[in-house]
Order: sequence, then C-alpha cells, then structure tokens
Amino acid sequence: MSALSERPENPVVGVPEPHESAVGHVTGTALYTDDIAARGDALSAWPVQAPHAHALITGMRFEKALQVPGVVRVLTADDVPGINDAGVKNDEPLFPTEVMYYGHPVCWVLGESQEAARLGAAVVEVDYDPLPSLVTVRDAIEAESFQGPQRLTRRGDADAALASAPHVFEGVTEFSGQEHFYLETMASLAYYDEGGTLYVQAGTQHPSETQEIVAHVLGLSNNEVAVQCIRMGGGFGGKEMQPHGLAAIAAIGTKLTGRPVRLRLNRTQDMTITGKRHGFHVSWSVGFSDEGKILGLKATLTADGGWSLDLSEAVLGRALCHLDNAYWIPDIEALGRISKTNKTSQTAFRGFGGPQGVFVIEDIMGRCAPELGIDPAELRRRNFYVAGQDTPYGQPVRHAERMHEIWDQVLENANFTERSTEIAAFNAAHPHAKRALAVTPIKFGISFNVAAFNQAGALVLVYKDGSVLINHGGTEMGQGLHTKMIQVAATALGVPRSAVRLAPTRTDKVPNTSATAASTGADLNGGAVKNACEQIRDRMAGVAATMLRTSPNDVRFSHGEVTALGQHDSVTFNDVAKEAYLQRVQLSASGYYRTEGLHWDSEAWFGSPFKYFAYGAAATEVEVDGFTGAYRIRRVDIVHDVGDSLSPIIDIGQVEGGFVQGMGWLTLEDLRWDSSDGPGRGRLLTQAASTYKLPSFSEMPEEFNVTLYDRAHEDGVVYGSKAVGEPPLMLAFSAREALRQAAASFGPAGATRELASPATPENVFWALQQAAARGVDMPNDAATAPEPSLAGS
Ligand code: MTE
Ligand code: HPA
Ligand code: MOS
Repeated sequence: MSALSERPENPVVGVPEPHESAVGHVTGTALYTDDIAARGDALSAWPVQAPHAHALITGMRFEKALQVPGVVRVLTADDVPGINDAGVKNDEPLFPTEVMYYGHPVCWVLGESQEAARLGAAVVEVDYDPLPSLVTVRDAIEAESFQGPQRLTRRGDADAALASAPHVFEGVTEFSGQEHFYLETMASLAYYDEGGTLYVQAGTQHPSETQEIVAHVLGLSNNEVAVQCIRMGGGFGGKEMQPHGLAAIAAIGTKLTGRPVRLRLNRTQDMTITGKRHGFHVSWSVGFSDEGKILGLKATLTADGGWSLDLSEAVLGRALCHLDNAYWIPDIEALGRISKTNKTSQTAFRGFGGPQGVFVIEDIMGRCAPELGIDPAELRRRNFYVAGQDTPYGQPVRHAERMHEIWDQVLENANFTERSTEIAAFNAAHPHAKRALAVTPIKFGISFNVAAFNQAGALVLVYKDGSVLINHGGTEMGQGLHTKMIQVAATALGVPRSAVRLAPTRTDKVPNTSATAASTGADLNGGAVKNACEQIRDRMAGVAATMLRTSPNDVRFSHGEVTALGQHDSVTFNDVAKEAYLQRVQLSASGYYRTEGLHWDSEAWFGSPFKYFAYGAAATEVEVDGFTGAYRIRRVDIVHDVGDSLSPIIDIGQVEGGFVQGMGWLTLEDLRWDSSDGPGRGRLLTQAASTYKLPSFSEMPEEFNVTLYDRAHEDGVVYGSKAVGEPPLMLAFSAREALRQAAASFGPAGATRELASPATPENVFWALQQAAARGVDMPNDAATAPEPSLAGS
C-alpha cells in the first residue's frame, strides 16, 4: 500500500461528518460573494445586451444613460488598459465590436445602485448592422463552421470490422445542452486595499485563472491582483472559465472609479450570457456479433461549441475518451470536431464531455438490443471490459473486474430478476400504463486531460496553542471539498476534527492553482494538505520524542494525544505545539502534490491520461402513462465506487445530487433557442425557471437507495479514496433507458427503439405512439404524430 493511501488507526477521514457549512447554509449565515458586496458602498455593474444573434456594432451613444440619476459611468473597450479578452485563447473579446450571440454584453453601466445601472443600461443607444447567423449545430455542419482542432480516436480497422459484422446498425444521435442553474448566479466584487493590491472576491472555480485574466485585462502582473472565493452556491463547471471576464469588468470599474464595484448577474442575464453544457450531433455505425458483442464502431461527433472555444477542446477530448463507457470496442474510428454557432460559448458542465460520449454508446445499446433480440441489461454486461484490455486510446482498464462486481451487486440490491417478472405481469395487465427497469454502468476517468493541471498546493499553519488553520487551492461549491480537507488535515496531524479550521481559498495564500474541476479537488488538494501536515507532524515528532524520551520514529499522533510506542505516558498535541515554538521549530508548511504516472499524446490520441477509473451502476424503474407520456421514477438503486470514502455523508450526497442532475439533463431540462428567421433569431427562449424545468422534490425517485461499493481501496490516492463529483451524473442514463423500454412496451417486441432527447413527457409520448403504431391491438394515431423533436440542436 502506498504511503499516500494508507490510513492510520482511528482516522478522522471516513467518519460521516456533516458539511462544514451545513448550519450556515440552512440558517443563512454562510455568506456568498454578493452578500459581502451588498454590505458595502460598492457601485453596481449592469450589462447592455445585444438583441441580435450576429451583428457588427456601428455606433454607441451614452448621453441619455449618463443623465440617469445614480449612473456613474459606462465601461467600454476604450477603458481596457491591457488585453481586451476574457479568455486565454484570444477569441473572446471582453467588449466586442462584433456581436456573436443574442444577449452578448456590448458594454456595462456603473451605477450607485443596481436599479440606477439597470435604468442607465436601458437607454444606452447601440447601432447594429445584422449579419447572417448559425443557430443550430446542423446549420453549422452544413456551413462547415468549425473551430479548434479536430480529433481522431482510432484503433484497428473499423471499416473492415463493420464490413464483416453480421449485424450492422446506423443512426444519428442528437441531444442538447444543459443550463447549470447554480442557485448563486455569477458574482464578483472588486476593490483596492490600502497597499494598492486589487482584490477580487468572486464566485469562481478557478481563482488563479480569474487572477490571471483580471491581470491581463488591466495590464497588471499577477502579484498585483488577489482573488478570493469564500464559497459558491453551486458551480457545476459553469464557474470554471466564465467568471473571469465578469470579474475583470468589476475590476476595470474599480480601477476607473477607485470605488468597490459589484457585479451580479440576475437569473435571466446568467442564462442568456453564460455558456452551458455542449449539445452534440453524432452520426454512427456499429457492428455486433451474433452473441451481441460489439465488433466495430465508426462515429463523427460534432460538439456545439457556441461562439468561442473556451473549454470546448478539452470537453470534446473527454467525450472521445468516454465513447467506450464500460465496453470493449475492438475496432473503432471516431472523429470529433467543434462547431461554431451564434450561441453562448458552451463550457464545462459536470462530466465535461464524458456524459456526451457515454450518451452515444448507451443510445446505441438501447436502440440495438431489441433488434439483436437480447435483453438490454444482458447486452451491456456481455460487452464489459475484462482484465487485460485497454481503452481505444491505449490506457489499461485497471480494476475492470470492479465493473462486473458492481453490476452483480446492483442487480441483487434492486431485485432485478424478480422485479422484471413483476413488471412484465404489470404491463400485461395494464394497456395504458407501462413500467420498465433498466440498468446502466459507468466507467469515468479521473484526472484533468491536460497533464499540467494535475497539481495542487496547500498552506497549513499550526498555532502555538495547537489549533490548526488550513488553506488549499480548491474551491467549495457545495460538494464538500472543505469538509474533506478538514478531515484529511485532522487525520494527518492526529488531532480531532474540531481542532482544524479552514480559511477561504485565495490566490495570495496558495499560488498557481488548477480549477476545482474534473472531480479532482479532493485527490489533488488532499495530497497537498496531507503533505504539508506531514512536514509539520514530522518536525513535531522530533520535539515530542524528547518530551517522551523516545525516538521520533516511535511517536504517534492521534485525536490530539501524542504517545510513544510501548509507553503509557502521553502528552497533548497542544503541549507539543507550545514546546515546538519554544524550541524554535517551524509550525507551518506549504504542501504540494502532483499526480504521478500520467502521460498523454494529444496528437496521436494515445496514452494514459487518467490516474484511475471510477465505476458505478444504477437500476431505475419508471412508470409511463400511455395517454400523456407523463412518468414517475418509482425506484433507483445505485452502487458506486468512491474508493475508501473520505466522508461518506458527503459522498452519498454527491451520488444522489449527480444522479438527479443527470436525470434533469436527460429527462426534463429542455433548452430552446429561437431558430426562426424572425427578429428573435438566436434568442434563448427558455431563460427562466418558468420555462426551463429543473428537477425538484416532485421528480425525486420515490425510493432512492445509494450504496457505496466496499473493499474499494484505491492505492496511490489520498487515504485510499476516489473522486466522486462527476461520475454519478452518468448513472442517470438508467432513467432514460427505462423510459425508452417503457415507451417501447406500448408496441410489439423486437424493433429498434428511438427516443428523442431530452426524454420529456412529450418526447416519451411520441416514442410510445410510434411503438404503438407498430402493434395491432392499439389505436394507431401515430400516422399524424410529428417526428420526435430533437430540441435545441
Ligand atoms: N456538487 C455541488 N453540490 N455543487 C457543485 O457545483 N460541482 C460538480 C461536483 N459536485 C458541484 C458538485 C463538478 S462539475 C465537479 S468537477 C466537482 O464537484 C468538483 O469538486 P471536487 O473536485 O471537489 O469533487
Ligand atoms: N475536466 C474539467 N476541466 C478540465 C478538464 C477536465 O477533464 N481538462 C481540462 N480542463
Ligand atoms: Mo466540473 S465540469 O470539471 O467543474
């Protein structure tokens, strides 16, 4: 066992601890960026948003705005002292001369209040020269409007495999994006301290990059800007890249006025300005053997990138690396490309391309199983990786056996065989309601697919009273990272959890950090926190050895007591800290961690980009109403692999939340953009909770059983744990597959089963109508039904 993954006796990790801010969250004492901003005398910033999908800006006039009481000034490109770009790829002008999407902010008004700024923005006059626009990914493919490099993943000879396969199927799979709908919208607050440091408090998953972009926009060096993130009310990937430009707007305002400037988007601004999950268009052909083994796959994946690249290349990369999900595909050729459309710049969203890749293969499984005459659960299992096989990009699938064990366990927990029989009986007795139970697997690669990002730092301080304060480079967005880091520090120092406090994430404490993303927050920052704690503990062991008259190697730290092997005497951690201070032994340390063993050649599309894979499986039962397509999620059983959990309550919450968020994407949330040629072309039509349906209590599974896979120790990761943030989202494919199967049960057995995405009641209704149309004993009115809609593509 590695030193990193080995746990001491009675560790504080693994204890079911509540979230460190749980009480603050429910009582309202936990503060968010705009809570702090609202207490001061900050100016407020408000955007002027363009009413065109694509246009040149030919003029702007501010006289009327400046006459509005309380308006202080208008920020434009002329006010940018440094580089006018919100990103790092030079394709995202912060103040554009060309409008690239409907709602694109063209300038910002500063006011004494949000209301003054809003009224000012309403009377800014902008002249536009409209240009032709591309709204759907299909339009972009037709116009060959692409951005960034194209990528090819290839193994063997897919053409030959398809030519000789006994069963070949072709299809197009399309699905749309997803709005993050974090409860806290984008927010930042900028101000100067007395020494001239520009401080930015921001809701950002990537404080170091916010710092970097604020610095380049203002023409400053990084040491003149400090970014702090106390916590976020959800990020879900939406705050990995896109807070930077908004923070820079607040910072420019501060530089020009000398006043603190606050910028908080309202919900509609957030939905119309910021990027979402990428929708994809995928065409594929697949070959199966008579036994249902996949022989070959060819596919072209086109991501809908929106107007600029931001994280699209990396998202596409992860999609290509998750096209296999848990399945061995001997011969494969998949091309990936990013379309450029006149929409918000699509960005990271929980799973980061993984869900999009998995969508394709799970759609293929669900559509082809009936044609092959094989039960879908059995078809999936037959194709699982076995020990010794590699992914298409060359990474050995370590612990492939876990997928099989988890699968067996979820079938058992869910009583799969018995309930399948009951469901068949229910369906036979109910012509107008059908149930189905579907199981899907997930295998998800953990590490950033950009190797350099896989590093982290921490700063740990032990005060001479023995109390501990930790800083690390990760941000808290509700996922419980800070709780886990407190547990890691308490374990490594051998103090009780109550002895450790955690200070907000800031770039002037820990520099050059990576985004808290790719689910790696605990792996990376946990490694760094543990490293810092161990430096201090080792020094303290020297002090304690003298106090206990033993050798430093024989000193043990646990729950605030320091003991020597084979001795009854003990001293307290606090006494050792005080003594260390008196002896002039350093009680602080900066820690560092880098993930070992990664290598990746993005040109050859080959290597081992992931430290390990996280595995899981879910069994979901639904009931569909034949008259409306409305459905209920009757029961969900999940078995998920989090290694040896650092914090079980947190991890179960992540599994539940991830599943429900995935279910939202796949079954409810329906992004619609105006693709007409009318004046609203390119406008996001679903720009509030009134038209964008999120999962709520009423959509929760009626029975929801989450089991953490045991005997799951992961060697080489902090205290044997595994990342949990994103993988469970993809367990929600079981809900989509159950809906597909239930809709199909309205018709005869054996034909392919298509289901448009998202599987809203409306789309489920059209799917069941089509199924029924194939039967003889149901009234057939599907002849008049429209094709299933492929919304939002
Ligand atoms: N959980 C909550 N409550 N809120 C969030 O914003 N973000 C998810 C996931 N779980 C998120 C969440 C995403 S996209 C990622 S990458 C991980 O948390 C990031 O945190 P971690 O690396 O600490 O798991
Ligand atoms: N996840 C999240 N963010 C990233 C990744 C990833 O895999 N790669 C680069 N940025
Ligand atoms: Mo998560 S999409 O990697 O922030």
